Amino acid sequence: MKNTPVRVLGIETSCDETGIAVYDSDNGLLGHHLYSQAAVHAEYGGVVPELASRDHIRKTLPLIHQVLSDCGIQGSDIDGVAYTAGPGLLGALMVGAAIGQSLAFGWQIPAIGVHHMEGHLLAPMLEDNPPVFPFVALLVSGGHTQLVEVTAIGEYELLGESLDDAAGEAFDKAAKMLDLPYPGGPQIARLATQGDPQRFRFPRPMTDRPGLDFSFSGLKTFTLNTVDKHTPADSPLPDEQTMADIACAFEEAVVDTLVIKCRRALQQTDMKRLIIAGGVSANLRLREQLETALAKIDAQVFYARNEFCTDNGAMIAYTGCQRLLAGQRDPLNIRVKARWPLHELPPLTSAAEVG
Ligand code: KG4
Ligand code: ZN
Repeated sequence: MKNTPVRVLGIETSCDETGIAVYDSDNGLLGHHLYSQAAVHAEYGGVVPELASRDHIRKTLPLIHQVLSDCGIQGSDIDGVAYTAGPGLLGALMVGAAIGQSLAFGWQIPAIGVHHMEGHLLAPMLEDNPPVFPFVALLVSGGHTQLVEVTAIGEYELLGESLDDAAGEAFDKAAKMLDLPYPGGPQIARLATQGDPQRFRFPRPMTDRPGLDFSFSGLKTFTLNTVDKHTPADSPLPDEQTMADIACAFEEAVVDTLVIKCRRALQQTDMKRLIIAGGVSANLRLREQLETALAKIDAQVFYARNEFCTDNGAMIAYTGCQRLLAGQRDPLNIRVKARWPLHELPPLTSAAEVG
């Protein structure tokens, strides 16, 4: 077994995307590929776990072959395997873990199970001007909304989180109310560009009291009531302009709430750097509003390119590489976790080696 893995195969299968990548600690990202199951789940209006697992079984190995061949390398050129071990859908996670562990066993190299949210959190590190530690991270995905104080890889302190729906989940539910397909975030964002921001004002939940927790369920009810109120008796939905106005007001309310809490978190921790990660960090309005708000307090916002905001294999390959470099490995067990608090992760013992 090699001691210093440098070229890591990353496998992401926690939800409805099969993401594969190869990250090299000396040369960066060598290649990556994503297959989205969105079309498989579209008719159900959300992810169907059993269909997700079956599709990962079909797609993971062919995608690994494709990425290796795109990179011009073979299995024997890989030094370590990283797979998402949680949090996520158990069956879907099992597929990536079983394939990852089997490949590592066959190739006689180490394997490591990666925390999906740590992957998101570190995705901005794949960009040209990565943030330096310490910083505050806003994790906003379909399943999580968290503010985390990050001192180093593996050193995470939770500052606040959603008490109910995650921000992405709120986008998805609002989209459903407007009969827009899943995933709803990008759909709402697109429709919102046609909306009149003056027409409706939606609440900014929990911003009028101190603290860094979030709650989006009241905003969801407010959105539903607004949709109902403006739906004519002879139609299933409001008229097109009203739909766009609602999308706009909803997006503004979520973004404004996130911006207020991020600014508060930076002030509370006395930090000048914020990273945003997870699917909702692809939202253009969120990025713009944060840039404007943070410039006023002399702080900076960092995020990954769009394709690395949502689920992808590159963030798993990168994160696994850092942990493997620090000497961490997982035993030859297929252990996955549907729930897995970020703070349970061990710190990197030999952080000096991290490239
Ligand atoms: O990180 P991600 O790909 O998967 C999870 O780990 O959950 O996040 C998916 C979430 C979905 O809820 C989706 O609607 C949301 O991210 N999302 C967006 C945008 N792109 C994706 N939300 C708002 N604006 C976007 N542009
Ligand atoms: Zn994710």
